[in-house]
Amino acid sequence: LASIEVDVSQIQPGQAIKTIFRKQPLFVRHLTPQEIKEADAVPLDSLRDPQTLEERTKAGKTQWLITMGVCTHLGCVPLGAAEGEVKGEFGGYFCPCHGSHYDTAARIRKGPAPTNLEVPEYNFTSDTVVQVG
Ligand code: FES
Repeated sequence: LASIEVDVSQIQPGQAIKTIFRKQPLFVRHLTPQEIKEADAVPLDSLRDPQTLEERTKAGKTQWLITMGVCTHLGCVPLGAAEGEVKGEFGGYFCPCHGSHYDTAARIRKGPAPTNLEVPEYNFTSDTVVQVG
């Protein structure tokens, strides 16, 4: 299966882009220091699908949150990646289909989705280029 390269150099803190990976939406988000702090402050035992932000990102690159843009409930595309879209009650993503709220680590916090947004295989090939897949 094909991998893709994403240039992240133009994505400012607080912004995200949507692209397509293997025919599905992919979100690439540049977290702000505040969003990282919020994710780190959540007790793991309060999470439905317990994972730290560090486990969901690469070492030294925790500001880059790269996930599939596919709700783990029934597969809708959550809002929150594009400019001006609502981010839900936990500041990450919001799936309008049945009301799943994801936090700034794209972890499920409220609503019917069973698991966090999926993190695909990826690697940084330079400071500003990510190879996904
Ligand atoms: Fe997202 Fe149901 S598909 S909440």
